[in-house]
Amino acid sequence: MFSDTRRKFLQQAATAGIACSSNLLASRFASAQTASTDSAAVARIYVDSRRTIAPLDRNLFGSFLEHLGRAIYEGIYDPGSTLSDGSGFRKDVLEEVRQLGVPIIRYPGGNFVSGYNWLDGVGPKKDRPRILDKAWNTVDTNQFGTNEFMAWSKIVGTRPLMGLNLGTGTAERAAALVEYCNIEKGTKWSDLRRSHGIEQPHKVEHWCLGNEMDGPWQIGHVTATEYGMKAQDAARQMHAVDPSLKLIACGSSGPGMPTYLEWDREVLEQCYEYVDALSLHRYVGNTKEETGGDSAKFVAMNLSMEHQIAETLAVCDLVRGHKRSSKKLWLSFDEWNVWYRARDAEAMNGHEHEAPHLLEEVYNLEDALVVGGIVNTLMRNADRVKIACLAQLVNVIAPIVTNAKGLFRQTIYYPYSWALQWARGNVLQILVESPTYEVSELGKVPYLDVAGTLSPEDGKVSLFILNRDLTKAQTVEINWQDRTPGKVLNSSVLTGSDLKAFNSFEAPQRVAPQPLDRLSSSGGRTKFEVPARSYTAIQWGA
Ligand code: AHR
Repeated sequence: MFSDTRRKFLQQAATAGIACSSNLLASRFASAQTASTDSAAVARIYVDSRRTIAPLDRNLFGSFLEHLGRAIYEGIYDPGSTLSDGSGFRKDVLEEVRQLGVPIIRYPGGNFVSGYNWLDGVGPKKDRPRILDKAWNTVDTNQFGTNEFMAWSKIVGTRPLMGLNLGTGTAERAAALVEYCNIEKGTKWSDLRRSHGIEQPHKVEHWCLGNEMDGPWQIGHVTATEYGMKAQDAARQMHAVDPSLKLIACGSSGPGMPTYLEWDREVLEQCYEYVDALSLHRYVGNTKEETGGDSAKFVAMNLSMEHQIAETLAVCDLVRGHKRSSKKLWLSFDEWNVWYRARDAEAMNGHEHEAPHLLEEVYNLEDALVVGGIVNTLMRNADRVKIACLAQLVNVIAPIVTNAKGLFRQTIYYPYSWALQWARGNVLQILVESPTYEVSELGKVPYLDVAGTLSPEDGKVSLFILNRDLTKAQTVEINWQDRTPGKVLNSSVLTGSDLKAFNSFEAPQRVAPQPLDRLSSSGGRTKFEVPARSYTAIQWGA
């Protein structure tokens, strides 16, 4: 019933996906984003508020909750716990996610969604079936389903990014879920929702048409043409129910896939006019295959994602040309993270248990630096990437980890939360002059990776700086070209002497942010040092 081959393929595909960085990508990054120089003793950052990339869509900092391991059960929903409210929602987790301010959360999968019957998860809880989920070989009690997720999202202050089953599911059943969620009353499925005690429609705007349908591990995996046709059919039926929906077709699940880009092109040939966006996924790891275990290379892996974005956009625009379409698609990077340790067959096999410990990756300092770099990459591509989801949010490859007594923040929590807190307004087109270092397959990589935003409403400027130098601090000089901001409102740096240090229930603060001090400003310039192995966020007032 449960295939080990599926899990193995997933592992291999992910591994291969990361090995495909090239010199091309480093040079693209160098010319578009930085003017690199090997000899500069000081790294210079030039900020001009007139030079911007795009308004920042807050959905760029979304996340993901799948019926997988302890993400839902024991993660956000634990009715037996004294830490939960009357609905069974873990109050501490609710508060943590509410405080983070995650704007959009993808649900219910992931691989899980491709075998999920949403009808099993609605209606009286006592009547809901216990099912064996074949993606993760796990028993799902269905005590948490669509309406519980909507209720939880409302309290947390987030919006759903709903995944649809286009594996075993039909286009008709997908449209039925839209009707169940979005129509007020007077139709079969909207009245079913009302009979379940939910009068007001959920009004879900964003929908994923399946998950990783290019992957042989995916339940219901088909060819690109077949999937593209099914996505088109589902999109047409769903739009008939609610024309305001924003629909995302499944792109390649990683650059290591043998069908990478060819899959995307063929899918879009079938459904371009019916969708708004294409998805892409990426997990990176400090493995023998991807980086040779070289941390200096690992902390540059966001540049390889930058390349993936450019290539995927090129395919979208190629098909746009073929179709002579006036519509420009955007991208939904709806799964990204570091993930490589809890990735063997055992870490992905639930052995038919409820809420098993699956994919419980422990994140260290270097992983947090990589996540910071990826956050920067996403911001720099804000003109075309409109949704992105840190995969995932709780317990499963996650920034937040729970046990029966409480929770702690993993290292990757911090760069993600700083972007959520301080990246506001327009993304700046920043020029960076940074010393570089040589990385196999990547070429010259700048030590400093910088992204930033300026909020036109309140004039606040925020900069996010990754220092990839693993041994030395870097002196940074910011040149404010057209306007000098006011005083520093917030500054935080994540660093440490041990790249492999991690947090745990026993030592939750081992890797924790510190304020960055000793910033000096005069004559339109601000000077400071960023420590070796660090990710820094600074926000200035108007
Ligand atoms: O996020 C974990 C899994 O990774 C998802 O279920 C799947 O879409 C991806 O391969």
